[in-house]
Amino acid sequence: MSRRPIGVFDSGVGGLTVLKELIRRLPNERYVYFGDMARAPYGTKSKATVTRYSKQIVRFLLSRNIKAIVVACNTASAMALDAIEGEFDLPVIGVVKPGAKTAADTTKTGHIGLIGTEATITSGIYESYLQGYRPDISLVGKACPLFVSLVEEGCIEDPVTTEIAKRYISAFRDTDIDTLIMGCTHFPMIEDTIQRVAGEHVHLVNPAYETARSTQELLQEKDLLNTEDIPVHEEAYKFYVSDAPDRFRRVANIFLPLSINGAKQISIEEY
Ligand code: DGL
Repeated sequence: MSRRPIGVFDSGVGGLTVLKELIRRLPNERYVYFGDMARAPYGTKSKATVTRYSKQIVRFLLSRNIKAIVVACNTASAMALDAIEGEFDLPVIGVVKPGAKTAADTTKTGHIGLIGTEATITSGIYESYLQGYRPDISLVGKACPLFVSLVEEGCIEDPVTTEIAKRYISAFRDTDIDTLIMGCTHFPMIEDTIQRVAGEHVHLVNPAYETARSTQELLQEKDLLNTEDIPVHEEAYKFYVSDAPDRFRRVANIFLPLSINGAKQISIEEY
């Protein structure tokens, strides 16, 4: 059982920022990644739709024999985590709770900013976790949907991305936030730009670090950590997409320290 892969999914390439931290923390594990390139973005869709998509993906990943699932998407974590946990009998880790915990531990002033998709911001899920950790915390949220498209297009270091960032981040100008949560897994890919625009006094939170730690803890608790070496001839990482495998490979190779030869396209609606 412990030799089985961990399933990781997102609406597209964003979840690779989480996969990167998982690989760093748990290098002995096998991974199956799914990017729903055909149906992205998720951030503008309803809870019912994101839940349906997420369940289909979990069914697909289960067909790849996974032992646990990391929902490497804030939107799916905000909207579908409960439904996934309710329907499937395997360990499930989302990114929102770990992100909120890191932010609560980081802030000194208690004033936190949140950038994410419209769905994540309006769900109010970060507020409820943050209030649970520290009731004195105040949160200002700003939906930044264009960041998702810019990252999916591979505009990582690009003047257009800087311009859009200036416009979005100006929402925090009259606040005294000291911490800004990158509440969308696509955003750490443009972290340098966000940091430059937000200013050095603002601490950026990438929920991926704490998510990887929570995954390790949960697997340990369930006795599911892989302790055996992965044979050299074996591929430890497998990538699947619902569309655009070439674009996925291109963006993934900018970002991940692996050289990804390709991603296999599958028909996710069949699951
Ligand atoms: N990367 C995702 C998130 O963390 C979804 C972005 C989108 O598809 O809108 O919310």
